[in-house]
Amino acid sequence: MIGRLNHVAIVVPDLAAGTAIYRDTLGASVSAPQALPEHGVTVVFVELPNTKIELLEVLGENSPVAPFLERNPSGGIHHVCYEVEEIIAARDRLKADGARVLGDGEPKTGAHGKPVLFLHPKDFCGTLVELEQI
Ligand code: CO
Repeated sequence: MIGRLNHVAIVVPDLAAGTAIYRDTLGASVSAPQALPEHGVTVVFVELPNTKIELLEVLGENSPVAPFLERNPSGGIHHVCYEVEEIIAARDRLKADGARVLGDGEPKTGAHGKPVLFLHPKDFCGTLVELEQI
């Protein structure tokens, strides 16, 4: 069901510093920052030949990544995103298997303008999983 790894998301305490590490130290191509108020994050994308890294910084008061940063003050891997062809069919199959879909269970528009869903880490090897319809 899942296809390619679309991205790995890393929460960082300082997006400019994270950008400098990936762009200057690691020599990767990094996008301009994009504020996503409806998701409570500012994001940059690190473009790698086979996937992307998404650096996330807290934006606003009720950012969903703020508790993660409190537990991991130097940042850390927050979620992995796998591509699916049919997000509703994927969701229904996972729910039928007993997996928990976060939020109201309806896809939201993600950082790439595509429908996304998040799956409960306790059902997926302790890792928050994002599904993105491609
Ligand atoms: Co993501």
